[in-house]
Amino acid sequence: NKKGFIFDLDGVIVDTAKYHFLAWQKLAKSIGIDFSHEQNEQLKGVSRVKSLEKILTWGNKTISEDKFNALMASKNDDYLSFIAKMNHNEILPDVPKVLNYLKEQDQPISLGSASKNARQILEKVDLLKQFDAIVDGNDVSKAKPDPEVFLVAAKALNIKPEECIVFEDSVAGVQAANTANMISIGIGEQNVLHEADYVFSDFTEIDTAFIDKLIKR
Ligand code: G6P
Ligand code: MG
Repeated sequence: NKKGFIFDLDGVIVDTAKYHFLAWQKLAKSIGIDFSHEQNEQLKGVSRVKSLEKILTWGNKTISEDKFNALMASKNDDYLSFIAKMNHNEILPDVPKVLNYLKEQDQPISLGSASKNARQILEKVDLLKQFDAIVDGNDVSKAKPDPEVFLVAAKALNIKPEECIVFEDSVAGVQAANTANMISIGIGEQNVLHEADYVFSDFTEIDTAFIDKLIKR
């Protein structure tokens, strides 16, 4: 009995929101916009382009296309300078335990991330080889809550969408999984991720009995 296990990256496998925050805050400051932690929360799961659009809207600013592209590029340079210093210690608690258990049970595993930096991050934290497929922001054109990224991941694993299980920390990602007809598992707060089929605060709360139940479902 094989299911497709699909993991979001940012906020599920690693906590990169703090690096996105620093890079977005620097960008916002450079154009005279304040940027708060609360706003950063709202950018979870949101693509790079959409994130900058939101920041500009919040700051009531319009800029030229050239400036927009230049800001996107320098934001990513800053972000990558943080990523460069990452190592396996930044993997969130018990993620390797769950990945290893799924491997032992011979279950297909894919990444399903909006990030265009996903491969680099997985490589830095030494998790690249745990994935049978990697689907990220370079492979899709429609951002979450559109289900495209998860449907492409299901296809890459050769598993039907209804037989897939998605781990997600963002509201948009949970919605994408639900629209794709997959089981959605929220990683974070119940009151934020209430649309998910199950919510856990982190992987330390997920035991092998629960995973067995998902596999047998
Ligand atoms: C994830 C993060 C977002 C980020 C997006 C694009 O969804 O939660 O905060 O904007 O990926 O990431 P990228 O690495 O391509 O800028
Ligand atoms: Mg995420």
